[in-house]
Amino acid sequence: MRTKTFDKFCELFGNEGDIRLYFSPGRVNLIGEHTDYNGGHVFPCALTIGTYGVARKREDSKLRFYSMNFESLGVIESDINALVNKKEDDWANYPKGVIWAFGEKGHNITSGMDMVIYGNIPNGSGLSSSASVEVLMGVILKDMFNIDVNMIDIALLGQYSENKFNGVNCGIMDQFAIAMGKENHAIFLDTADLSYQYAPIKLDGAKIVIACSNKKRGLGDSKYNERRSECETALSELKAKLDINSLGELTEDVFEANKSLINDADRVKRAKHAVYENQRTIKAVEALNAGDIDTFGKLMNASHVSLRDDYEVTGKELDTLVETAWEQDGVIGSRMTGAGFGGCTVSIVKDEAVDAFIENVGKVYLEKIGYAADFYVVEIGQGASRI
Ligand code: GLA
Repeated sequence: MRTKTFDKFCELFGNEGDIRLYFSPGRVNLIGEHTDYNGGHVFPCALTIGTYGVARKREDSKLRFYSMNFESLGVIESDINALVNKKEDDWANYPKGVIWAFGEKGHNITSGMDMVIYGNIPNGSGLSSSASVEVLMGVILKDMFNIDVNMIDIALLGQYSENKFNGVNCGIMDQFAIAMGKENHAIFLDTADLSYQYAPIKLDGAKIVIACSNKKRGLGDSKYNERRSECETALSELKAKLDINSLGELTEDVFEANKSLINDADRVKRAKHAVYENQRTIKAVEALNAGDIDTFGKLMNASHVSLRDDYEVTGKELDTLVETAWEQDGVIGSRMTGAGFGGCTVSIVKDEAVDAFIENVGKVYLEKIGYAADFYVVEIGQGASRI
């Protein structure tokens, strides 16, 4: 893929000058969903699939972007002095947003660039193809313009661009996992203070299988913002009595004793998920570190139930994938991953059961939903870098 991307760059923009290559992964979250904007813990890892980028600085202020995944859009042109979100610029609003974010935070980008990207993360799948492009752009800007930012800064700049330039109030999980990923490790991140630990994922005799529902998210982003504000309102109601800064500070017991402060049944459920999911994530990582993969799997299953019943972000596609997965032999755990409302599930499946898992879950899904799901047996890779 890197060669194809490079060749395309040369074909479109010429082969002279200082052309550089970069790679930025996708991510999957193993547990800790919708906790990252509630001051809770998450447990994602970077994947070996992701986005390749080839770029070269220009002398003038022009920006020219081309994606081999959206060839019909052609070359999208912009300018470092005209960075506004434009619908017709489509995916290029992500790299544009990152250049804008660097400027907002005092890292002025002084000239334009030509850039070609090519990714193998299914779009809109919940494996963070957009955050992959954002972090890719951050790494390119740091490298090409010698900007003094570290990888956590790049993750934060990516999140800032997504929040303020692209209008999705996402948390820090995706950009952090993509910037800071480490081969064969997941990242146990406390989103309250960004402290983190790498946890080795040694799945002796089992694999991580992602099932992509192929349901496009559509309204997902607005629902996402809605969940976020429901949690914020619940927090402010709890604050009437409790001295807390986030739902992530609550144990299950304290939440149960005070939930009557929340004046709406749906909001109680949303906050309950945020509190319990955070505690589940802490317990899951403890279990994994103690070599107890079965408990880890059970907590993954409980996470899905909570996302389905209390947070209500699954839908029939994701539920069909997960509930069918639970019935298969050799499945240690299975849940939706990412924002939900479509996208992917993540399952831990014993080696010898993987083929039957893909066949059986695929068959049931096609029968019930009417179109096929895609399956990927994935590996955990490094964070974004120049290659
Ligand atoms: C999306 C967001 C993340 C996180 C997840 C849900 O992927 O970008 O910040 O909130 O949803 O856990």
